[in-house]
Amino acid sequence: MEHYFTTPIYYVNAAPHIGTAYTTLAADTLARYWRKKLGREYVRFTTGTDENSQKTLSAAAAKGQSVEEYLSEMADEFVDCWGQLGIDYDDFIRTTEPRHESTVQRLVTQLMENGDVYLGDYEGMYCSRCETFLKESELNEAGQCPDHLIAPEKIKEKNYFFRLSKYQDWLLELLQGGFLKPEKRANELISLIKNEGLDDISISREGAEIGIAHPSDPNHKLYVWTEALMNYYTSIDRPELNHFWHGEVTHLVGKDITRFHCLIWPAMLHSLGLPLPKQVFAHGFFTINGQKMSKSLGNAVEPRALAQKYGADALRIALLSAFAFGNDGDFSEDHLAEVYRTKLAGGLGNLVNRVITLIDKYYNGDKSTLPVAPAVIHVEAFGKHMEALELYRACEVFFDLIDQTNKQLADAEPWKAPDKQAPEVLALFAGQLATLEALSDMAEVLLPEAAKRLKLMLGNAQKTGERVILFPQIEA
Ligand code: MSP
Repeated sequence: MEHYFTTPIYYVNAAPHIGTAYTTLAADTLARYWRKKLGREYVRFTTGTDENSQKTLSAAAAKGQSVEEYLSEMADEFVDCWGQLGIDYDDFIRTTEPRHESTVQRLVTQLMENGDVYLGDYEGMYCSRCETFLKESELNEAGQCPDHLIAPEKIKEKNYFFRLSKYQDWLLELLQGGFLKPEKRANELISLIKNEGLDDISISREGAEIGIAHPSDPNHKLYVWTEALMNYYTSIDRPELNHFWHGEVTHLVGKDITRFHCLIWPAMLHSLGLPLPKQVFAHGFFTINGQKMSKSLGNAVEPRALAQKYGADALRIALLSAFAFGNDGDFSEDHLAEVYRTKLAGGLGNLVNRVITLIDKYYNGDKSTLPVAPAVIHVEAFGKHMEALELYRACEVFFDLIDQTNKQLADAEPWKAPDKQAPEVLALFAGQLATLEALSDMAEVLLPEAAKRLKLMLGNAQKTGERVILFPQIEA
């Protein structure tokens, strides 16, 4: 079975930050796990940028750039950041690419042919920062968008609508069946449907300057969210890749965008007669030192700077192990430094160094004389957690195994044994080595750069390899 993982495509009006890095690292980690298990050809992982946003116009103007210049400069920022974070995606999709326009226009044409799109009048309150219409009930007491604290614009115009209301009961059933994880997020949408019901949604804006044209009425541009969701399909919209849509599709998103991914998107797919994703997983939000991350607070953490200082591996595992995938939690550089010092340098680095040094010393690095060790049971738990999207738990298994193995070595004190050829000493080293092999396999998923160095040290079936430093000391 093929596995297809996606991240949201990010707006380019902000540089990548810890929040967007979190989703992207999580998707990358899952893709690495499945590639290792099934082979690269069975796995696809995509990310990209959401570029047809009205905000782009003012942002480009403010920088004195053309829209195209601005967009490619910003998309390059993301490509550069993901490169520095060791993200190995199969496709980076930009919604201004012709391939996306062509998929979107075809899908919208099909929605029209199916009778699920109609032209109507729209009157509503539009928040240009959210790029979405807000209901009266969603505004704060001052009549403002609660997230952006600006008064939404009153808009009255002709819009094309998608018949979302028609799919209300079907969506309710879908959400009750576990389409959106974790359950608490699904429950939010279930109560929304039950309490407020679903209205048809506007999918175009008349006279908008930016965006993909409506396929049969070019005066209208498709609303950015309508077409952005379709990026997931654009990426595999080629005969040789289309089979990924028939495998297990997992959309990873933040909890802020479940309505789009779990109401609009499945309803459109259903209307189009296309298979649904297996699941949408909505993770929680990071705060920074206890505060909400925001431009105005200026506390958005630049992931590249942290990756340069601590290494991309450390950033990845510190984020993924910070709290349960699905919950909210905090991030601080102190936490990252602590993970680096105790779990990586002091934990894994120390363990590997000690075991390899001792095997070199006592057995001249010859592994072939060591007995066969029993299988490492943690491997199974690690896989189980990865497959259940329990990234935090998978990290826990990895760290526990390191701690246990360090403790086993310290307790056994093989350096005190008078005979290094005694069966219990040989068995100890065989077991330790088997654990290092298991850890290096897990590291290929969780710490891809360090895994390469670890594999080098482990050498081949006969002999240990060269000595390298797994986690160098960090300058304060
Ligand atoms: N362009 C839309 C998504 C379209 S998908 C078809 C969008 N872009 S965004 O740039 O605002 O990115 C939102 C995503 O960034 C969230 O869903 C989440 O993945 C990530 N995060 C943004 N801030 C975050 C935190 N503070 N913490 C964790 N993730 C966060 O919405």
